[in-house]
Amino acid sequence: MDLATLLARRRMVRSFDATPVDPQWLDDTCATALWAPTAGNSAGVRMHTISANLVGAYFERATDPQWRRDSPRAPGLLRAGAVVLVTSRPEDYLERYSEADKRSSGLSTMAAWPIPYWHTDAAMATMALLLLLEEGGWSATLWGNFRRDAEVLDWVGAPEESLFASVLIGRPDGHDHRSRSLDRIVPARSARVRRVEVSPERAP
Ligand SMILES: Cc1cc2nc3c(=O)[nH]c(=O)nc-3n(C[C@H](O)[C@H](O)[C@H](O)COP(=O)(O)O)c2cc1C
Repeated sequence: MDLATLLARRRMVRSFDATPVDPQWLDDTCATALWAPTAGNSAGVRMHTISANLVGAYFERATDPQWRRDSPRAPGLLRAGAVVLVTSRPEDYLERYSEADKRSSGLSTMAAWPIPYWHTDAAMATMALLLLLEEGGWSATLWGNFRRDAEVLDWVGAPEESLFASVLIGRPDGHDHRSRSLDRIVPARSARVRRVEVSPERAP
C-alpha cells in the first residue's frame, strides 16, 4: 500500500476486540519507528511496550476507577492488545545542545527552547509508529499526556522521562464511540496549505 493511502486510511479507533499484539513484532516495529528524525541526533525518544497481559494493569495506573466504571469507551479501550508509551528525555537535548557544535544555539537550558524538540521528536516517532501499525493491519488511538503521567512512568520504571503519549493498539471490534472532535467543522486539508507569493526582491 502506498504512503498516501496509508495516511488517508489511518483513523483513531477506540474499541478493540482483545486480540493480543505479538510482543516481539511490536518491539521491532517501535525500533523501526525510531528511524524518525531526531534533532541534533539527540536520540532522546523512548518507546515502552506493554503487552496484552499487562494492559489491565496499565489502565489501573493511567485511569481512575470512576472512569473505568462510567466511561462508555472504557470497555473497548481496555480490550487493547498492547500499549506503547512514547516518552522523551529532555536532558538528552540539553546535553546535546551544550556540545561544541551546538553551543551557539543558546539551547542548553530548558527555558531557552521556543519549541522543545524533545516533544517534536516524540511526535515524529509517534506518527511513524501509527503508520507502521496501519501497515501491519493494526488500529490505534493516541492518548495525550495528561492522565496520571507520574504514576504510569513510575510503574514502567522510567520516572525521569517525560510522557508524550500512550498509543493504545488493537483490532477494531466495530463498536467504536465516534469522537465528538470529528464533528467539528474544520478547514479542508487543501485550504490549510498556502503557497507564498511575495516578490523575491521585496526588501526585508
Ligand atoms: C496530540 C494528540 C493528542 C490526542 N489525545 C487524544 C486523547 O487523549 N483521547 C482520544 O480519544 N484521542 C486523542 N487524540 C486523537 C484525536 O482526537 C484525533 O486524531 C482527531 O480527532 C482526528 O481523528 P483521526 O485521527 O481519526 O483522523 C489525540 C491526537 C493527538 C494528535
